Amino acid sequence: MDQGGDQEVMKFFIQTFGCQMNVCDSTWIEMSLVKKGYRRVNVETDADIILVNTCSVRKKPEEKLYSFLGRIASLYKKRPYIIVGVGGCVAQQLGEKIWEKFPFVRLVFGTDGVASVPQSIERLIKEDGLKISLLNFMDYYPERNLPPYKDITKNMASAYINIMQGCDNFCAYCIVPYTRGRQKSRHSSNIIKECEMLVDAGVKEITLLGQNVNSYGMDKYGDGVSFVELLRKVSNIKGLKRLRFTTSHPKDISDELISLFGILENLCPSIHLPLQSGSNNILKKMGRKYNKEDYLKIIDKLKKINKDIVITTDLIVGFPGETEQDFKDTLEMMKLVGFDSSFSFKYSDRPNTRASKMMPKIQEKIKGERLSILQGLQEELTNHSMERLKDKIVEVMVEGISTKQFNKNRLSYKGREPGNRIVNFLVPQNMKLNIGDIVTVKINKIKKHSLFGEVIY
Ligand code: 5AD
Ligand code: SF4
Repeated sequence: MDQGGDQEVMKFFIQTFGCQMNVCDSTWIEMSLVKKGYRRVNVETDADIILVNTCSVRKKPEEKLYSFLGRIASLYKKRPYIIVGVGGCVAQQLGEKIWEKFPFVRLVFGTDGVASVPQSIERLIKEDGLKISLLNFMDYYPERNLPPYKDITKNMASAYINIMQGCDNFCAYCIVPYTRGRQKSRHSSNIIKECEMLVDAGVKEITLLGQNVNSYGMDKYGDGVSFVELLRKVSNIKGLKRLRFTTSHPKDISDELISLFGILENLCPSIHLPLQSGSNNILKKMGRKYNKEDYLKIIDKLKKINKDIVITTDLIVGFPGETEQDFKDTLEMMKLVGFDSSFSFKYSDRPNTRASKMMPKIQEKIKGERLSILQGLQEELTNHSMERLKDKIVEVMVEGISTKQFNKNRLSYKGREPGNRIVNFLVPQNMKLNIGDIVTVKINKIKKHSLFGEVIY
């Protein structure tokens, strides 16, 4: 604790493992604690309150949680007054069992419990020995108090906004419907209000987040506004320069949504569309409800609207029963679509999922070999996609100073082009840029997954 005059300032540290939705939840908790007068610190050893927000989609983040809590255990021995909280999907999955394994943990919160974390921490500070569990799924989207964005968003050009919680799809391999619960759409007026506040506070780019944004509004919590209508409304907010969304499920993507890429000027030309596998046999077992032909039709339509649209994806190798031919089908699809980039994973069994009971399992060694072949191919495709930008002129939104200094005498910044690729660029000697500025850059060099360029007038 700091002695700030008479007042003791509580210091907190948040560790986040996992997807953008977890990052978004952690950011909200951080802003709320700052609003309450607590101070964020960058290392756990300086903190009075340590929160870890975790993901359990794959095994790896779960393992990271255990090693993190192991470190905290030894810290706790020296400083038994620290307050430790565990949240997110792993907390939801393990529940209060976390207390048996790690008795020093005083707060466990699931995804629907995030909204109550700040008040719960206040109670834990006041009441020694108290433990709080926020694991219940709510029967509605639990709205959060909006923090005073105007005070907090200085130097923040981009923001993520949750538009829904949970998922109803139950893909055979996926734990999300169990850890994040059924799909619950957030009321559109609350989303719009939050977006307006952010833009008013200086944010230039908004990404709408959900496990399956295409089915926004289609659950019983929907308020009659579809995802297409929501995008139109957010796009209309004056001052919003860039709009993005993620993640889309191919089975729910409509022609109307695709057409928006040709209509809404601030909707960025990039889409994350998880394919998972290029084999119809595996897609069926996964319960994805589309086949490769359906997927290719969507890609065709997207490219007809904008031939340069950036398409990224998620891929799993080694799903139970995946044959050499199934895997080759995935490679074939990657080439046909020409993915600009992809996230790829070795299949891992997750508790309670249908796939965890499916046989035969694929040996780790084979999964590893397939993953490295797939990633090698992706590298070629990504290079090819980047090469297409050589000598092109792109609009870049500034994110900060670039660490890739490539001219001793001139400042170099980094930012993103509309397709979301990072661009490092030089500016004329007397030019100073701010985060969120949009500048015109000519790409003149491409090196190992990085784009380099120069501001032009
Ligand atoms: N094994 C491997 N990858 C998985 N994903 C989800 N569940 C699993 C699993 N059990 C991947 C999918 C999903 C991404 C977020 O994580 O590709 O799109
Ligand atoms: Fe998981 Fe499938 Fe839902 Fe995505 S759509 S979160 S993969 S169940």
